[in-house]
Amino acid sequence: MTRIIKIFDTTLRDGEQSPGASMNVEEKLQVAKQLGRLGVDIIEAGFAISSAGDFEAIKRIGSEVEGPIICSLARAKEADIKRAWEALKDAPKKRIHTFHSTSDIHLKHQFRVSREEAIRISAEMVRLANGFVDDVEFSPMDATRTDLNYLLDVIDAVVEAGAKTVNIPDTVGYTMPEEFGRVIKAIKERIKDKAVISAHCHNDLGLAVANSLSAVLNGAGQVECTINGIGERAGNCSMEEVVMALRTRRDFYNADTNINTKEITRSSRLITKITGIPVQPNKAIVGANAFAHEAGIHQDGLLKEKTTYEIISPESIGLISAKLVLGKHSGRHAFKARLKELGYDLTQEEMESAFEKFKHLADQKKDIYDEDIETLVSEEISRIPEVYSLIDLTISGGINVKPSARLKLKVDDHIVEKEEHGDGPVDATYKAIAFITQTKSNLLKFEVKSITGGTDALGEVTVSLEEDGKTVRGHGADTDIIVASAKAYINALNKLSYIKKAKK
Ligand code: KIV
Ligand code: ZN
Repeated sequence: MTRIIKIFDTTLRDGEQSPGASMNVEEKLQVAKQLGRLGVDIIEAGFAISSAGDFEAIKRIGSEVEGPIICSLARAKEADIKRAWEALKDAPKKRIHTFHSTSDIHLKHQFRVSREEAIRISAEMVRLANGFVDDVEFSPMDATRTDLNYLLDVIDAVVEAGAKTVNIPDTVGYTMPEEFGRVIKAIKERIKDKAVISAHCHNDLGLAVANSLSAVLNGAGQVECTINGIGERAGNCSMEEVVMALRTRRDFYNADTNINTKEITRSSRLITKITGIPVQPNKAIVGANAFAHEAGIHQDGLLKEKTTYEIISPESIGLISAKLVLGKHSGRHAFKARLKELGYDLTQEEMESAFEKFKHLADQKKDIYDEDIETLVSEEISRIPEVYSLIDLTISGGINVKPSARLKLKVDDHIVEKEEHGDGPVDATYKAIAFITQTKSNLLKFEVKSITGGTDALGEVTVSLEEDGKTVRGHGADTDIIVASAKAYINALNKLSYIKKAKK
C-alpha cells in the first residue's frame, strides 16, 4: 500500500520570512486559494500574534479557503496560543502549531531556561492549545542540534499532552540525510503511531529536500515545505521538488502525496510574481531550463522516444506548451468558460474588468495564451483602490535624441499632464509620475519579464518601492514594455497610499 505523506505548506509563514517576501492580506489570500487548488493538506497561514496583517490573513484564509486545514504558528506562550485561536476559530478545519527550542545552545543562550523547564512549558502549552482545538502540532526548535535522549523525552511529554503531530525542525539546516533519517527512526520507534512525525528542513547546506525524503523513508508522515523553496535564509524544503521526487520514485519510497501536480507551475509563477523572488533557471521542476534539452544527442533521443531523457513530463506539472486559447473574436462566454477551466471564480465586477482588459489585449496581440489570461486575472484579483490611474503615455526620442515621456494621469478625479526627459524612456516616464504624484519613494528593484514568446508578447514589470520604511511591490503588464513599467510604478504608489490610509 502506498503511504500518503501530508503536505504542510508554510509558504505564507516560513516562506514569507524570506528577505523582501512579505505579502499583504489580499496577496496571501490569493496564494492560499492557489494552495487549495494545488491540494496541500495543511496551510500554515501565518503567525497570528506577530502582526495585525498576519492575524487578518489567517482569519480570512480560514473562512474563505475550502479544503486544507488552516494553521497558525504560536510560540509556547499563553498569549500566542490565545491569539492563534482567535484568528482560527471560524475556520472549519484548524490547527495550532506551537514550538519551543530544545537544543542546549538555544536553551542556554537564548531562552535561559533549563531542559526540565522547557519540557514543562512545552507540555503545558500543548495542553492549553488542545483546549481550543483538537489538532495541535508541536515543534522542538533546533531539534537536529538537540541531545537525542532529551529530544525523545520532550516528544513523549508533548504527545502525552495531546500533540497529534510532532514536527522535527532542522532549524539551521545542519543535519545530513542519513543522520536525520536516524533521528526520525528513533522517534518512530519511541512513539509508534501515537502522533504523526513531520520533517521541517532548511536548506543552508542545500540538503532540505534530501533530508525530508530521508525522513519519509524512516517513518515521517508529513513534510513541511514552501513553493519554490522560499524561506528564512537559504530557504525551506521545496514543495515541487519533494512532491515530484515522491511521485516519480513512488516505486522507491512507496509513498505519494495528495498534490495535484498539474497546478505546480501555476503556483510557482504566482509566488514569483507576488514576492518578486525569481526562480533560478536551472532549478529542478520549475526552473526555465528544467525541460530544455540542449545537447544534440539528447534532442535526438527525445525525438525518437521521450522517455530516453525525460523522467517527468512537462504536462504533469502543468507546463503545457503555450496553448492558444482565445482570440480577438472570442466572446464573454468563452472567456468566462476558459477562466473556469483554469480554476478562477471571479466576481461579476472582476470578470467584467478582466474581460475589458482581454479585449484590449486581443486588439494588440494576435494570439492569446493561458499565461496571458492568468496575468490579467491575477491583476484583477489583487486590485486595490486606485488613487492614481494611467490615462495616456506618449514616448519620443531615439539613439541621439534624449527620450521624453508625456504622461496623463488621473489623480483622484483630476486629470494631470506632465512631460519629462530622462536617460531612457522608463526614466523619463518615472520622473513624470513622481512629479505628478508628488511622491518621494525610492526605487529598489526593477524587473522585466516576458510572459509568452514573440515580439507582441505581454511583458510584465515588477518594481519594489520604498517610502518611510515601507516596502511594496507593484506589477504591470502590457504588450508595450514602457506602459507596463508605468503601470507597475503606479500600482506600487497606489499600494503605498493604501497602506498609509489604512494606518490612519
Ligand atoms: O525552522 C524552524 O525551526 C521553524 C519552527 C518555528 C518550526 O520554522
Ligand atoms: Zn523554519
